Amino acid sequence: MYYADEVIEEVRSRNDIVDVIGSYINLKHKGNSHTACCPFHHEKTPSFHVSREKQMYHCFGCGVGGNVFTFLMEHENFTFPEALEALAERAGYDLPKQEMSAQAKKQADARSKIKDMNKLSAAYFHYLLKTEHGEKALRYLKNRGLSDETITKFGLGYSDVYSDDLFKYLKSKGYKDDELKDAGLVKFDEKYGFSDCFKNRVMFPIIDMNNRVIGFGGRVMGDYKPKYLNTQDTLVFDKSRNLYGLNLAKKSRRKGIIFCEGYMDVISMHQAGFDNAVASLGTALTVGQVNLVKRFTDRAYLAYDSDDAGTKAALRALEIMREFELPARVISLKPYKDPDELIQAEGPEGMEKRIDEAKSGIMFEIEILAHNYNQEDPQERTEFQQEAAKRLSLITDPMERKNYVDSVAKQYDIDKDSLKEAVTHYGITGAAKVDASVFQEKKRKSPEEEKEQQMLKSERLLISWMINEPSLFDKLQSEISPDDFFEPVYHDVVQALFEQYQRDGKLVPASIINHYQSKEEHEKVSAIMQQDFDMEIPDGEKSKVITDLVKTIKLRSIEHQMKITKGDLVKQNELITAKIHAGKLVIKI
Ligand code: UTP
Ligand code: MN
Repeated sequence: MYYADEVIEEVRSRNDIVDVIGSYINLKHKGNSHTACCPFHHEKTPSFHVSREKQMYHCFGCGVGGNVFTFLMEHENFTFPEALEALAERAGYDLPKQEMSAQAKKQADARSKIKDMNKLSAAYFHYLLKTEHGEKALRYLKNRGLSDETITKFGLGYSDVYSDDLFKYLKSKGYKDDELKDAGLVKFDEKYGFSDCFKNRVMFPIIDMNNRVIGFGGRVMGDYKPKYLNTQDTLVFDKSRNLYGLNLAKKSRRKGIIFCEGYMDVISMHQAGFDNAVASLGTALTVGQVNLVKRFTDRAYLAYDSDDAGTKAALRALEIMREFELPARVISLKPYKDPDELIQAEGPEGMEKRIDEAKSGIMFEIEILAHNYNQEDPQERTEFQQEAAKRLSLITDPMERKNYVDSVAKQYDIDKDSLKEAVTHYGITGAAKVDASVFQEKKRKSPEEEKEQQMLKSERLLISWMINEPSLFDKLQSEISPDDFFEPVYHDVVQALFEQYQRDGKLVPASIINHYQSKEEHEKVSAIMQQDFDMEIPDGEKSKVITDLVKTIKLRSIEHQMKITKGDLVKQNELITAKIHAGKLVIKI
């Protein structure tokens, strides 16, 4: 369901954020400020702020924030339309039926076209697998132990050796070149023209929760690289908000959801009867995926690869799951590499046993910690015990905490009373939070990364200034444009701000968030608007700060344009003039 911007804004403005959030959590009023302990992470002192003036919320502890829609999306696990509908109802506002703006309709059409093309492609790949062309691929899958039933259930297929057979097939069905490109199925090259993205690979269609094909993973048969190719992000394929196998796993009667790393792991697991297995799509687990799963289950199992990379990914996943309160257990696959290998070697019974023996996330973390310290060295052993105590202090339920303290004391031969005392101490001081990064190796950023981060920060800061001092627009309009902002979300925000200011002569930051539908975007946008920097600097300094920000952003934008217009002398000359102008820029406020 798509709604026009005006409708969305109408619903937002009819739902005061303080009233709405106040109906979910206990807000403390003090003058203009409304605060509470953040509902999205554990804390003892309130760092969750709701602003009636801005109609936004923000937690300084964990960084979540947004407008009234974001809150419902986060708190109730609603999608954007669901949040919109709930708030419309709350305000007694009748949403127009099937309202769709021209733009939204175009997008909806494009999406549904991509899904249609994907469906045809999946059927085509599956068909090829059963023909002479797919003989080798079929043999490959059979050799890996997959039954006909499994192959059909997952719609596995084969992409032919020809470079454009899919392209021709879809063209014959009436699709246009650009449409095929936007679907991530074909690519264009100046020299070779259009060609298929997947060639001579075993194909794994990726199916969303509404049983639509949204993308593909394609595996080489043998030891070549890259092992898997995945569909690029398209209008319908957002890797961070989907999980491979969830369309089946959501219907499972087994307890919990089992997270694996690979497509093959999921398929093997399902074939062995563990039809609650899913995998993220070639990327690390995301907050979006955890939230998705929370709609179906109240517990997670991690069956990540048993190598170092897998362990690291598991630790990171545990962190996210803890933050979003999804209790997690870790399945040990050793000495096997991944769930697929374990099942090949020990069968379903072996896996069942491992699931029963899965360790709680905390015990797993402590075990990894134990390996990181030399237990023979008294100093290191003490450090290990302190870190373990910090972890344990994160357990909020007192009974559970006691049980864990007991078993850690026993397993690592630590005096129970001292451990208990240390855990209580860290619990009171909240020291554990600061040290959540003990597992991560300190990674140094490269100078380029450093510079990039600095640029992002400048872009963010300038936007914050614009929001807090709208009078700046008059002075900035001739100096900087949305296109000078590189980060796509920031670019869009600046564009929206300029439009608002030109149209209404004022800014309503909370309404700009309406343009975004995913939680991640909501957070990114609201984070800019909540920048809590010191606006109290003396007026004389302000001009300098803003001049510097504009200069930094403008010069980098000019540099970038010079790079991409190399050879165009006229353009280069214009840019040189612009560069000189930017260098001398002074903005007075
Ligand atoms: P693995 O290398 O563990 O693959 O990568 P796998 O699923 O166990 O595959 P087999 O058993 O070797 O056939 C785990 C996941 O990481 C992503 C894929 O989603 C894969 O399933 N991946 C891996 C890629 O996207 N590209 C790659 O080149 C490799
Ligand atoms: Mn594998």
